[in-house]
Amino acid sequence: MSSVYVNEQTGVDGPEVSGTEQQPFQSAAYAVFIQPESKVLIYKQLEDSEEFGYSEISASALKKAKKGADGLKKKAEKQAKLEEDQKKKEAENAAKLAELDLIKIEEDTSLPLAKKIKLRTIQENLDTRVVVQGWIHRLRLQKGVAFITLRDGTGFIQAVLSGDLAKARQTQELTLESTVIIKGVINKLPEGKSAPGGVELKADYYQVVGLAPAGEESFTNKVQENADPSLLLDQRHLALRGETLSAVMKVRASLLKAIRRFFYEEGLLEVTPPCMVQTQVEGGSTLFKMDYYGEEAYLTQSSQLYLETCLPALGDVFCVQESFRAEKSHTRRHLSEYTHIESELAFIEFDDLLSHLERLITKTVQYVLEDPIAGPLIKQLNPDFQPPQMPFKRMEYIHALDWLNEHGIPNEDGEKFKFGDDIAEAAERKMTDTIGVPILLIRFPVEIKSFYMQKCSDDPRVTESVDVLMPNVGEITGGSMRTWDYEELLAGIKREKLDLESYYWFTDQRKYGTCPHGGYGLGTERILAWLCDRFTVRDCSLYPRFTGRCKP
Ligand code: 4AD
Repeated sequence: MSSVYVNEQTGVDGPEVSGTEQQPFQSAAYAVFIQPESKVLIYKQLEDSEEFGYSEISASALKKAKKGADGLKKKAEKQAKLEEDQKKKEAENAAKLAELDLIKIEEDTSLPLAKKIKLRTIQENLDTRVVVQGWIHRLRLQKGVAFITLRDGTGFIQAVLSGDLAKARQTQELTLESTVIIKGVINKLPEGKSAPGGVELKADYYQVVGLAPAGEESFTNKVQENADPSLLLDQRHLALRGETLSAVMKVRASLLKAIRRFFYEEGLLEVTPPCMVQTQVEGGSTLFKMDYYGEEAYLTQSSQLYLETCLPALGDVFCVQESFRAEKSHTRRHLSEYTHIESELAFIEFDDLLSHLERLITKTVQYVLEDPIAGPLIKQLNPDFQPPQMPFKRMEYIHALDWLNEHGIPNEDGEKFKFGDDIAEAAERKMTDTIGVPILLIRFPVEIKSFYMQKCSDDPRVTESVDVLMPNVGEITGGSMRTWDYEELLAGIKREKLDLESYYWFTDQRKYGTCPHGGYGLGTERILAWLCDRFTVRDCSLYPRFTGRCKP
């Protein structure tokens, strides 16, 4: 009788091992499974001895090993069956695919020439043979018919593939986000059936331009709806294709267009100030510093000072420019880079500035709501949105403190608000949400506002300043009248311990024909968060930048 060797410490269970004394197995069960006829020898301490060596397995251990070997046998049989089934399936699939390969998708050249269109024009092209190109947004494969929801950025359409078009291998292997060119006729859908735009494209020919991956690398694996926000931000380039994010980006485009329309109606001229600067506007703590050919420079925090220099040359001006803030605060309304809409108006008084802001917000919102693309998207994203009504509620800083104290909302130290306290984000939001309408919060104390703000003539402790507060977001705009007296401006610059010399070009404005003037800055992402009811401004920026995030 042959022997099989088992060593629990040094042995190995597997086909690469022979079960000899030189190559023992690890378990007795495996040894019995592989060599059921052999005598099993186990490596252990020998009876009545200090020595270790091989000796025959005990009867009880052998019984246990046989049981284990039965289990292993069943497992092996199951595995073999699985492999066989898999092989059979693969062979069947290959046969099926070979059959599908025989189906050729060919264009019927006797059909009328197809008109190339973008999906925003489908309603103007009913009953016409068209060619559309785009990305597969949704896909449903059924027996004998395939439904593709195509997206081209300007709209969506449902294409129906039937007959050979549906059966062909190319169709069976389609994936989400692949690009295709489809030809066919656009038909209005009968009552009761629904698809985007109430139409359907009956495809007569299509071709694949770029096939997106399936399996592990598939689009849906990369962008999972409920994934962690930071994972989704890593995949922002793909996530942007989603319906919600792309809707916000479309509203964003409409907002920028509407705001430019308003500015032109009000006679303002667009300028493009520099991003790389050597002066600060809103405090040194949020400056992004950089080395500029050996000199210290910053990424701009605000283009305000440059806009002020444009007034004598160009009259009232505005800009839509990126601003940069090295914010320490990690809040849902702070970005490190944001699109700053700023304007500056000459020969105005504080009240003119406030009514200009009211018009700016109400008119811009009106234009966006009237936009045939953005209007319906806002309804979808923010069904309860109420456009603001003029005049806005005006509230002085000092009265806001009273309101906060009356409502038991404490300051940052957990105490009652007193004159000079900053109204931090949480308190500001509580107040705005409770009041529930846009607020022009005005007349902030000198010490909590910037060096350039004009003091009120009836109370020099406060400034002609304004924050526009919106429910759900809080501050969306900050503005003020500017100190237009040369000496007073110098005092402000000194008070903030700024380097006077680097501001020569700014202070010159007060020398060479000064005038009362004012302006403001509006955070594009903040106004969008309000319009589109987004939780955070991060959802309103194409590629948001904030603490720790500068990619993709
Ligand atoms: O109140 P801020 O800091 O004012 C200024 O920069 C002025 N110099 C503007 C001017 O008068 N021309 O910023 C103005 C607006 C804020 O109300 C807010 O909407 C937005 O810019 N903002 C930010 N948005 C996103 N992330 C940040 N870190 C922001 N900081 C300001």
